Amino acid sequence: MDLSVNLAPKNSRGLLLANPVMTASGTFGYGTEYGDLVDIQKLGAIVCKGTTLEPRPGNPQPRVTETASGVLNAIGFQNVGVAALIAEKAPVWAGWRVPVIVNITANTIEQFGQLAALLNNVKGVSGIEVNISCPNLKSGGMEFGLEPEAAAQVTAAVKKATSLPVIVKLSPNTHRVVEIAAAVAGAGADALTLINTLKGMAIDIYSRQPVLGNLTGGLSGPAIKPVALRMVYEVAGTVQIPIIGCGGIAAGNDAIEFIMAGATAVQVGTATFANPHASLDVLAGIEQFLRQQNINRIADITGAAKH
Ligand SMILES: Cc1cc2nc3c(=O)[nH]c(=O)nc-3n(C[C@H](O)[C@H](O)[C@H](O)COP(=O)(O)O)c2cc1C
Repeated sequence: MDLSVNLAPKNSRGLLLANPVMTASGTFGYGTEYGDLVDIQKLGAIVCKGTTLEPRPGNPQPRVTETASGVLNAIGFQNVGVAALIAEKAPVWAGWRVPVIVNITANTIEQFGQLAALLNNVKGVSGIEVNISCPNLKSGGMEFGLEPEAAAQVTAAVKKATSLPVIVKLSPNTHRVVEIAAAVAGAGADALTLINTLKGMAIDIYSRQPVLGNLTGGLSGPAIKPVALRMVYEVAGTVQIPIIGCGGIAAGNDAIEFIMAGATAVQVGTATFANPHASLDVLAGIEQFLRQQNINRIADITGAAKH
């Protein structure tokens, strides 16, 4: 059975995965934390925690709260910073079979370019995932990912600074996702990830205050799967680059839905918190479905639900 996928067919370096199951940024640390629990080398790829130029301490507590069929989080990009990532994490990744993709985030277009340049020739880094769901300080705090022009500018700056495959991760908090996807693809993105978390909040009725220290947070988990699936389906009908589906995937059948909607690969996020093996369970579920259905190549069902 051939499960391999190429996430960057138009990039000379390519991004070949042995199978389409990846971990989602912020839900699998740097991969190293899970080494004793999961055979991480069996995964298609690992996407590390969102990385910034400087280390960040993150948001005030509480940062996570459970909701019906989901989780609200406002971690606030707590991370070690790109210099420590290059010095301490990448040398470990360089010895792995599984490719590691570094998720980057910034508050100016220049910072995005700097991050991409610093990561360009680092051994152990196979690609960059650009999180554009963060405020643009030069534009009154409006998120880059909510405006086609700004999203395209970030993409172009990152592409200019690196020859690594560049995946742009889109925000679902907009009615313009198809337009934004087209702008990002037009600016040279090698692939897209859809979706990041949906903005939400929870209130403690006894303290009469928002539960999260940050007041609002991002909703993830099974609650967002239908929204994510719809966005993948809509965008797949518009762009010619690979799409990575993400949002509420916890089992093989969830992943198959995304692949039939047009995704080339999938990411597993929140499901990992309840079950550290979730991503490998998703992989086993995909294999089981393909075997049952006598399908030899994952590519044979990619986009099958498209009209
Ligand atoms: C605790 C937590 C931290 C996250 N951190 C990041 C991050 O640093 N960068 C990013 O692009 N997405 C981040 N995400 C979003 C996930 O990668 C994913 O897009 C989202 O959770 C939807 O997938 P899921 O429903 O499978 O979790 C985070 C999600 C959670 C729950």
